[in-house]
Amino acid sequence: MDITKSNEDLISNLREKNEMAFAGGGEARVAKHRQGGRLTARERLDVLLDPGSFVELDRFMTHRCNNFEMEKNKFLGDGVITGYGRINGKTVYVYSQDFTVFGGSLSGTQAKKICKIQEMAIKNGAPIIGLNDSGGARIQEGVEALGGYADIFLRNTMASGTVPQISAIMGPCAGGAVYSPSITDFIFMVKDSSYMFVTGPDVIKTVTHEEVTKEELGGAQTHSTKSGVSHFACEDDKHCLLMIRELLNFLPSNNLDESPVLPTTDKRDRIVEELNEIVPPNPKKPYDIKEIINHIVDEGYFLEIHQSYAQNIVVGFGRFNGQSVGIVANQPQILAGCLNIEASIKAARFVRFCDAFNIPLITLVDVPGFLPGTDQEWNGIITHGAKLLYAYAEATVPKITLITRKAYGGAYDVMASKHLRADINMAYPTAEIAVMGPEGAVNIIFRNEIKNADDPEAERARLTADYQEKFANPYRAAELGYVDEVIEPSMTRVRIIQALEMLRNKRDQMPPKRHGNIPL
Ligand code: HXC
Repeated sequence: MDITKSNEDLISNLREKNEMAFAGGGEARVAKHRQGGRLTARERLDVLLDPGSFVELDRFMTHRCNNFEMEKNKFLGDGVITGYGRINGKTVYVYSQDFTVFGGSLSGTQAKKICKIQEMAIKNGAPIIGLNDSGGARIQEGVEALGGYADIFLRNTMASGTVPQISAIMGPCAGGAVYSPSITDFIFMVKDSSYMFVTGPDVIKTVTHEEVTKEELGGAQTHSTKSGVSHFACEDDKHCLLMIRELLNFLPSNNLDESPVLPTTDKRDRIVEELNEIVPPNPKKPYDIKEIINHIVDEGYFLEIHQSYAQNIVVGFGRFNGQSVGIVANQPQILAGCLNIEASIKAARFVRFCDAFNIPLITLVDVPGFLPGTDQEWNGIITHGAKLLYAYAEATVPKITLITRKAYGGAYDVMASKHLRADINMAYPTAEIAVMGPEGAVNIIFRNEIKNADDPEAERARLTADYQEKFANPYRAAELGYVDEVIEPSMTRVRIIQALEMLRNKRDQMPPKRHGNIPL
């Protein structure tokens, strides 16, 4: 300690250092960064976290690079703000890259700071949220920066399934930098100001001669509709940060916690008469499965994930009598609710997330089968469809399934059927459980009878009606115990809540193994 200085001097010296750190890359760079309405790295944390809860760590760390005269160019904190705070009262670990310091680029020091809070998050069982805004590896540092990324990827992988990991992309995220977010559980992107790609437009132009803008290549819209890389496309920084808070309300802090239960004003015995009218009796007529979801969850609040991607399947979080659940539902409005490659992957990842974090699964089934076509076959629907099957089969959380209408073929098996150890399987009276739809089935099994009949069309119609009567209902499955109960649609919410309560202490497990081998 410098004994020539008073306590007052020492404290004022600390305050000066803090002010230097708070200044980031300086006024000019901060002003440039704000253009277009972007928040600074610190302002983002203010919106994300409960007021006054943020505690910063490693504020004074700097880089150790001497290349290109970098030793003369240092900023306190080195372009990332790390620490912990609370969201709705629960502890989270955070890092927020500061684009105003070396473009938020990742140095060895930055990586050390991020790794430190990743390790704390794993050890102390709390979610980790990364706000990414970076020009990638710090070019001046070379391999030290590359190594830093790999150190982060390793910890992302170790944290996977242990604590929820959330990434927000709030600026550039290019090259290898994309792989940390992609290992995490949910990616949020901000429209018009964020982009993610492995190789940028210039490289693409050189190699493939394609011309594409940054936004078209890897903007929020692209990744939330075309590639599915991003789960949420947000309007601006503030919207993005508030959405992360919303999502966290549905999640436990770690894999040993129960799924959260929040107070609700919605009645547990609410009978929903409107549901008796939603599923059209004509099986060819579409309807919106989200109408059913919105009617049954607490206060009609459903947080949809991947809203604009693979819309033939709907996934997201809701609550029943306060308890968080994951909902997976075929959407008859899009591709008749068929399972295709994108839908299978989207739902499989969601099912595995819920299973990893003790979140019960509610599955609403209206599926005519897997989407036929060479495109699907040649791109591997066999492997990708198996992902969803595998995810449901290995899941040991409470699993409640409701067949609203069609459950045909392999898709019947896949969609959390009794055979994949679903706990409670229900069906509406409108349910049809069969190997395939009546027309297709009759054309195959009665080909000769139809061909040889005096009036083939009349015979086809008679056989189709006969098949429909035999199979286009839930009662054969109910006779076999594959469906536990055929319910009136108005009772859906009540029955789901009763099942969730009954399953609260469910304990089930897979045989011991190193890990399974999901068809990737
Ligand atoms: C060091 C960087 C940097 C980087 C930006 N800066 N990227 N410094 N390393 N990777 C600095 C700039 O020198 C500048 O410093 C400040 O950040 C702002 O950058 P600008 O270019 O002025 O900003 P803008 O015009 O908005 O362009 C942003 C950008 C561009 C598109 C991100 O900076 C850019 O293309 N950067 C390089 C991106 C890149 O190729 N990264 C490596 C990817 S490969 P001053 O002092 O002027 O403010 C990779 C490998 C990871 O990351 C591998 C892991 C496995």
